[in-house]
Amino acid sequence: MAKSLFVCQECGAEHRKWSGKCGDCGAWNAISEQVEAASARHVKKSQALLTSPITDIAMNQVQRRSTQIEELDRVLGGGLVPGSAILMGGSPGIGKSTMLLQAAARLAEQAPVLYITGEESIQQVGLRGERVQSKHKDLQLLAACDLEAMLATIDEVRASVVIVDSIQTTVSARLSSAPGTVSQVRDCAAALIQHCKQRGYVLILVGHVTKDGALAGPRVLEHMVDAVLYFEGDRGHAHRILRAVKNRFGPAGEIGVFEMSDRGLKGVTDASRLFLAERTADTSGSVVLACMEGTRPLLVEVQALVAPTVYATPKRSCVGLDVNRMAMLTAVLERRMGIPLSGQDVYVNVVGGAKVGEPAADLAVALAVLSSYQDRALPHRMAVFGEMGLTGEIRPVSQPENRVREAVNLGFSQVLMPDENHTRVQECKLTATLREHADVPSFIPVKHLAGAAEMALHARVS
Ligand code: TYD
Ligand code: MG
Repeated sequence: MAKSLFVCQECGAEHRKWSGKCGDCGAWNAISEQVEAASARHVKKSQALLTSPITDIAMNQVQRRSTQIEELDRVLGGGLVPGSAILMGGSPGIGKSTMLLQAAARLAEQAPVLYITGEESIQQVGLRGERVQSKHKDLQLLAACDLEAMLATIDEVRASVVIVDSIQTTVSARLSSAPGTVSQVRDCAAALIQHCKQRGYVLILVGHVTKDGALAGPRVLEHMVDAVLYFEGDRGHAHRILRAVKNRFGPAGEIGVFEMSDRGLKGVTDASRLFLAERTADTSGSVVLACMEGTRPLLVEVQALVAPTVYATPKRSCVGLDVNRMAMLTAVLERRMGIPLSGQDVYVNVVGGAKVGEPAADLAVALAVLSSYQDRALPHRMAVFGEMGLTGEIRPVSQPENRVREAVNLGFSQVLMPDENHTRVQECKLTATLREHADVPSFIPVKHLAGAAEMALHARVS
């Protein structure tokens, strides 16, 4: 007999009874009823399977397929691995379909690709293909929402890469729940993944994201796939960041930078230049941060504005950074440097829609706030990195050489860095090469915020 089950549409938790609030994730009004399949409970005892010693597993066969889009390959860890399942998430209109169509046409040059669209007609996709110059005779289009039909077509076409745009529009006739619900999304994804894995096809699923940043409903999908790529960036800006939040076949945290043009998405190799493009000289509250995104160094501008508050509690607000971390940094500025920020609103912004999650941004944020408060500009050609502790001490961060290299490449003449990183940078090959040239940039070691502020805001060098 079929039994009822109540499933939260946000987190996928299963409950025996309906309630207004999910006990697992706390979401309101997200639980809906489903009928559990009866067959699953009567499985016959199966035979033991054969195991293999790990030493017998051949190491050779991972043959990655390049998408011919350098930035996308980088995020994937070098290309597509046969039999892998990839989830591409992002808010509507950010460029997921455009990116995949461009990649599909290039992949079709090597082997057939099947692009299944559940949101647009094939005419619309064709028109877009025309516009972004992504057409190839081995790129097959299919407009379908029905899972069973998709599976049959995948076998018929024998495409080695299958793209499903999007998983939320895919429905299975076997399930009673509505399209887009957690159980539909999860079961359709599971069927597609299993089907493609068995045949060694690459499967790329598109997933829409809700406004709070979670993949709508199917957070459950993240652990079913081999890689999760997220599109970031706001539609007001032309550039987009594709980030690997999970990757079983490459480093996670890797990013690719793209620019949306009238001919589709274009890879941006010198991303730092793009992020610093709108920077103006000698303005207070602006600091250039040398941060790392995966294995890639990136220079971004951190801006701060400090202004007397009109509220009882001053505002702390930021874009592209963690607001709690920023509140901690302002508290350190107040206590250790004696800067009276409790009567001031503080706004901090990473320019250009980039998101910086690493503590190496601390020093740049603190200096930006201080610079705005004192209305003094940092030297124009200075880049900064370093983590800050609660006493205001500056702590070393990872990969200082890469950060310095990026700053030097972009013509920065001074780099402010943690004292302990300075030693490593002095010994590295880059510094040795630079010494042979006349204009050696100055690498300035700092131990404490007070010293850093002295160097950045008071010493008028260069
Ligand atoms: P799209 O790939 O449809 O987004 P998603 O699949 O993530 O919902 O991107 C659509 C947006 O990109 C739309 O606002 C128009 C813009 N766009 C361009 O600016 N240039 C182009 O060449 C294309 C194809 C789209
Ligand atoms: Mg789309």
